[in-house]
Amino acid sequence: MMNKKIEEAFNEQLNAELFSSYLYLSMVNYFADENLDGMATWMRIQTDEERMHGMKFLDFINDRGGRTVLKQIDQPKIEWSSALEAFQDGYNHECLISSKINDLVTLANAEGDHAASAFLQWFVTEQVEEEATALAIVEKLKKVGDNPVGLFMIDDQLGQRAPAAPAAAAG
Ligand code: FEO
Repeated sequence: MMNKKIEEAFNEQLNAELFSSYLYLSMVNYFADENLDGMATWMRIQTDEERMHGMKFLDFINDRGGRTVLKQIDQPKIEWSSALEAFQDGYNHECLISSKINDLVTLANAEGDHAASAFLQWFVTEQVEEEATALAIVEKLKKVGDNPVGLFMIDDQLGQRAPAAPAAAAG
Protein backbone atom coordinates (compact mmCIF):
# COMPACT_ATOMS: atom_id res chain seq x y z
CA MET A 1 0.00 0.00 0.00
CA MET A 2 1.25 3.48 -0.70
CA ASN A 3 0.13 6.58 1.10
CA LYS A 4 -1.52 9.48 -0.71
CA LYS A 5 1.50 11.78 -0.46
CA ILE A 6 3.75 9.23 -2.13
CA GLU A 7 1.08 8.36 -4.68
CA GLU A 8 0.66 12.01 -5.68
CA ALA A 9 4.43 12.63 -5.84
CA PHE A 10 4.99 9.50 -7.93
CA ASN A 11 2.21 10.53 -10.31
CA GLU A 12 3.94 13.91 -10.68
CA GLN A 13 7.20 12.15 -11.50
CA LEU A 14 5.42 9.96 -14.05
CA ASN A 15 4.28 13.17 -15.70
CA ALA A 16 7.82 14.63 -15.53
CA GLU A 17 9.28 11.54 -17.21
CA LEU A 18 6.65 11.65 -19.95
CA PHE A 19 7.40 15.35 -20.42
CA SER A 20 11.10 14.44 -20.74
CA SER A 21 10.15 12.02 -23.50
CA TYR A 22 8.07 14.73 -25.19
CA LEU A 23 10.85 17.32 -24.90
CA TYR A 24 13.41 14.99 -26.46
CA LEU A 25 10.95 14.03 -29.19
CA SER A 26 10.69 17.73 -30.00
CA MET A 27 14.48 17.80 -30.27
CA VAL A 28 14.32 14.82 -32.68
CA ASN A 29 12.23 17.00 -34.97
CA TYR A 30 14.62 19.94 -34.64
CA PHE A 31 17.66 17.81 -35.45
CA ALA A 32 15.89 16.15 -38.39
CA ASP A 33 15.03 19.59 -39.71
CA GLU A 34 18.70 20.62 -39.39
CA ASN A 35 19.87 17.45 -41.22
CA LEU A 36 21.66 16.33 -38.08
CA ASP A 37 20.40 12.79 -38.49
CA GLY A 38 22.83 11.25 -36.00
CA MET A 39 21.63 13.56 -33.24
CA ALA A 40 18.02 12.82 -34.22
CA THR A 41 18.76 9.09 -33.87
CA TRP A 42 20.43 9.62 -30.50
CA MET A 43 17.54 11.71 -29.21
CA ARG A 44 14.96 9.24 -30.49
CA ILE A 45 16.53 6.54 -28.33
CA GLN A 46 16.53 8.99 -25.42
CA THR A 47 12.84 9.63 -25.98
CA ASP A 48 12.14 5.90 -25.72
CA GLU A 49 14.21 5.63 -22.54
CA GLU A 50 12.25 8.43 -20.90
CA ARG A 51 8.99 6.72 -21.74
CA MET A 52 10.41 3.58 -20.13
CA HIS A 53 11.26 5.63 -17.02
CA GLY A 54 7.66 6.80 -16.92
CA MET A 55 6.39 3.23 -17.25
CA LYS A 56 8.53 2.18 -14.30
CA PHE A 57 6.72 4.76 -12.14
CA LEU A 58 3.35 3.72 -13.57
CA ASP A 59 4.01 0.03 -12.82
CA PHE A 60 5.24 0.80 -9.32
CA ILE A 61 2.16 2.89 -8.47
CA ASN A 62 -0.14 0.16 -9.77
CA ASP A 63 1.81 -2.64 -8.09
CA ARG A 64 1.53 -0.88 -4.73
CA GLY A 65 -2.21 -0.50 -5.02
CA GLY A 66 -2.04 3.20 -5.85
CA ARG A 67 -4.00 4.95 -8.58
CA THR A 68 -2.13 6.16 -11.63
CA VAL A 69 -3.45 9.45 -12.94
CA LEU A 70 -2.29 10.67 -16.35
CA LYS A 71 -2.03 14.44 -16.20
CA GLN A 72 -1.68 16.93 -19.03
CA ILE A 73 1.78 17.00 -20.59
CA ASP A 74 3.06 20.53 -21.22
CA GLN A 75 4.04 21.56 -24.74
CA PRO A 76 7.82 21.40 -25.03
CA LYS A 77 10.06 23.98 -26.67
CA ILE A 78 10.12 23.41 -30.42
CA GLU A 79 13.01 25.52 -31.69
CA TRP A 80 16.68 25.82 -30.78
CA SER A 81 19.38 28.07 -32.19
CA SER A 82 22.00 25.33 -32.33
CA ALA A 83 22.75 21.73 -31.43
CA LEU A 84 24.69 23.08 -28.47
CA GLU A 85 21.65 24.95 -27.17
CA ALA A 86 19.50 21.83 -27.52
CA PHE A 87 21.91 19.59 -25.64
CA GLN A 88 22.48 22.29 -23.03
CA ASP A 89 18.72 22.35 -22.49
CA GLY A 90 18.84 18.56 -22.24
CA TYR A 91 21.56 18.73 -19.60
CA ASN A 92 19.70 21.40 -17.61
CA HIS A 93 16.57 19.29 -17.79
CA GLU A 94 18.38 16.21 -16.48
CA CYS A 95 19.67 18.27 -13.53
CA LEU A 96 16.07 19.27 -12.80
CA ILE A 97 14.96 15.63 -12.97
CA SER A 98 17.80 14.65 -10.63
CA SER A 99 16.60 17.18 -8.06
CA LYS A 100 13.05 15.82 -8.36
CA ILE A 101 14.31 12.28 -7.78
CA ASN A 102 16.28 13.54 -4.78
CA ASP A 103 13.13 15.14 -3.37
CA LEU A 104 11.25 11.87 -3.86
CA VAL A 105 13.90 9.95 -1.93
CA THR A 106 13.67 12.49 0.87
CA LEU A 107 9.88 12.14 0.92
CA ALA A 108 9.98 8.33 0.81
CA ASN A 109 12.40 8.27 3.72
CA ALA A 110 10.34 10.79 5.71
CA GLU A 111 7.22 8.67 5.15
CA GLY A 112 9.05 5.49 6.09
CA ASP A 113 8.24 3.93 2.71
CA HIS A 114 11.20 1.60 2.27
CA ALA A 115 9.80 0.00 -0.88
CA ALA A 116 9.60 3.42 -2.52
CA SER A 117 13.14 4.26 -1.34
CA ALA A 118 14.49 1.01 -2.78
CA PHE A 119 12.66 1.59 -6.07
CA LEU A 120 14.07 5.11 -6.34
CA GLN A 121 17.68 3.97 -5.96
CA TRP A 122 17.69 2.83 -9.61
CA PHE A 123 16.77 6.38 -10.62
CA VAL A 124 19.39 7.93 -8.36
CA THR A 125 22.07 5.93 -10.18
CA GLU A 126 20.49 6.48 -13.58
CA GLN A 127 20.49 10.26 -13.10
CA VAL A 128 24.25 10.29 -12.52
CA GLU A 129 24.65 8.68 -15.94
CA GLU A 130 22.01 10.88 -17.57
CA GLU A 131 23.72 14.08 -16.42
CA ALA A 132 27.22 12.84 -17.29
CA THR A 133 26.20 11.76 -20.80
CA ALA A 134 24.46 15.02 -21.62
CA LEU A 135 27.28 17.11 -20.18
CA ALA A 136 29.92 15.23 -22.18
CA ILE A 137 28.05 16.02 -25.40
CA VAL A 138 27.67 19.68 -24.38
CA GLU A 139 31.42 19.91 -23.75
CA LYS A 140 32.23 18.37 -27.13
CA LEU A 141 29.87 20.74 -28.92
CA LYS A 142 31.46 23.69 -27.12
CA LYS A 143 34.89 22.57 -28.31
CA VAL A 144 33.91 22.36 -31.99
CA GLY A 145 32.12 25.72 -31.86
CA ASP A 146 31.16 26.84 -35.36
CA ASN A 147 33.32 24.26 -37.11
CA PRO A 148 30.90 22.33 -39.40
CA VAL A 149 33.33 19.42 -39.86
CA GLY A 150 33.51 18.95 -36.11
CA LEU A 151 29.74 19.21 -35.82
CA PHE A 152 29.17 16.52 -38.43
CA MET A 153 31.78 14.28 -36.79
CA ILE A 154 29.88 14.50 -33.49
CA ASP A 155 26.63 13.94 -35.38
CA ASP A 156 28.09 10.79 -36.92
CA GLN A 157 29.32 9.55 -33.56
CA LEU A 158 25.97 10.14 -31.84
CA GLY A 159 24.19 8.35 -34.67
CA GLN A 160 25.94 5.14 -33.65
CA ARG A 161 24.05 4.97 -30.35
CA ALA A 162 22.28 1.66 -30.06
CA PRO A 163 19.00 1.24 -28.18
CA ALA A 164 19.39 -0.16 -24.66
CA ALA A 165 18.97 -3.92 -24.47
CA PRO A 166 15.45 -4.83 -23.31
CA ALA A 167 16.69 -6.24 -20.00
CA ALA A 168 18.70 -3.09 -19.27
CA ALA A 169 15.85 -0.91 -20.46
CA ALA A 170 13.49 -2.64 -18.09
CA GLY A 171 16.05 -1.73 -15.46
FE1 FEO B 1 14.21 10.00 -16.93
FE2 FEO B 1 16.56 11.42 -18.37
O1 FEO B 1 15.68 11.00 -16.80
